Amino acid sequence: MSEIAARLAELEQLGLHRRTRLVSGPQGPSVVVDGRPALLLCSNNYLGLADHPCVREAAADAALRWGAGAGASRLVSGTMTVHRALEQRIAAFKGTAAALLFGSGYLANLGIVGALSRAGEVVFSDELNHASIIDGCRLSRAETFVYAHNDVEHLAWGLEQAGERASLIVTESVFSMDGDVAPLEQIASLAARHGGGGRRGVRVVVDEAHATGCIGPGGRGAVAAAGLDGEIDVVIGTLGKALGSYGAFAACSQEIAALLTNGARSLIFSTAPPPPAVVGAHAALDVLEAEPERVTRLQANARVLRAALAREGIDAPGSSTQIVPLIVGDATLAMDVCEAALRDGVFAQAIRPPTVPDGTSRLRLAVMATHSEDELREAARVLGRAALDIAGGAPFNSSAVENRTATEITRVPASG
Ligand SMILES: Cc1ncc(COP(=O)(O)O)c(C=O)c1O
Repeated sequence: MSEIAARLAELEQLGLHRRTRLVSGPQGPSVVVDGRPALLLCSNNYLGLADHPCVREAAADAALRWGAGAGASRLVSGTMTVHRALEQRIAAFKGTAAALLFGSGYLANLGIVGALSRAGEVVFSDELNHASIIDGCRLSRAETFVYAHNDVEHLAWGLEQAGERASLIVTESVFSMDGDVAPLEQIASLAARHGGGGRRGVRVVVDEAHATGCIGPGGRGAVAAAGLDGEIDVVIGTLGKALGSYGAFAACSQEIAALLTNGARSLIFSTAPPPPAVVGAHAALDVLEAEPERVTRLQANARVLRAALAREGIDAPGSSTQIVPLIVGDATLAMDVCEAALRDGVFAQAIRPPTVPDGTSRLRLAVMATHSEDELREAARVLGRAALDIAGGAPFNSSAVENRTATEITRVPASG
């Protein structure tokens, strides 16, 4: 057996082997997955904008007018009028002085954490932050302190330990795999307290990948919902989730935008986002502004699904948003429940380590505003049946998450 075959076999044995599934047609509420019709319950197309006629038309028109690609990095010949127009639109949407587009959310986090922290400084990162933030910490030359999930006391303790060193706090607002919301007011006031008095800088970066378009006034995100407009140094959002396109942005001051333009390597050394994606996202923002009821519909749908799951005896711990995690624990069991649900017409991909911590494999349900309430109630019934068939009862068990101990909280190495 080759070394590569042996590695693949090991993943298979651990229940961690991955393959991609083939989805036919756009990311609508229902799709055909590997040739089988199914309700799509794991797409981040939360507002149904990826397949919205205005967004599709705008993207198609942009390809005809501005071409399929941007041709170069933003700093070479890649900043086109469509990029500048979307940046101005996003800055107005987020209430910041400036906004800067990135190729994707992954690239944004990778570049921003590194650009805002230097050797000798400290990055404070929530233990459940997305892989792109973790990789940003790894690339940064600063020391990384991983604080327990949403634990402001642990964060405060870490800030004390950092003494006079400049620091960056980075957190998601709506957590991608758990659907809970970070205590942003407390984080912002900790940063103000520890960074105040001119002693040192404590900056805050909030990744609103799963909050933009989903919560807050007009879908402006959790920072706006918490009344923190203007108090967070960088608000990151993606264009590929609720906004139905591809790419990402940093909403910030002019000064920070200038620093990112000079220091974010994933912006400097990567081709600018393609015009169809940029103009598609711009059209999506226009639809969101004209139809804010999509946001309330999304939230109402999430409540319908959670209530229907509760009637099936299924516990969805912690989530207050459109992301509803059903914790299974074991990776193989999670895949088995996922396959059973898919056979019955519900596609809810199982999420396993390293995307989630060991022992917390889950079905991550993602609601869309375009699901009907009946579809969501039927999905809950299918998931209840899948649980019964596979585990003879209730494999969904929130204690797997609650029992995680502080020993799993580690420092991310500064490099390597
Ligand atoms: C919290 C968070 N940040 C960033 C990203 C990456 O965004 P993108 O898919 O645009 O690369 C994701 C993607 O799932 C995410 O969940």
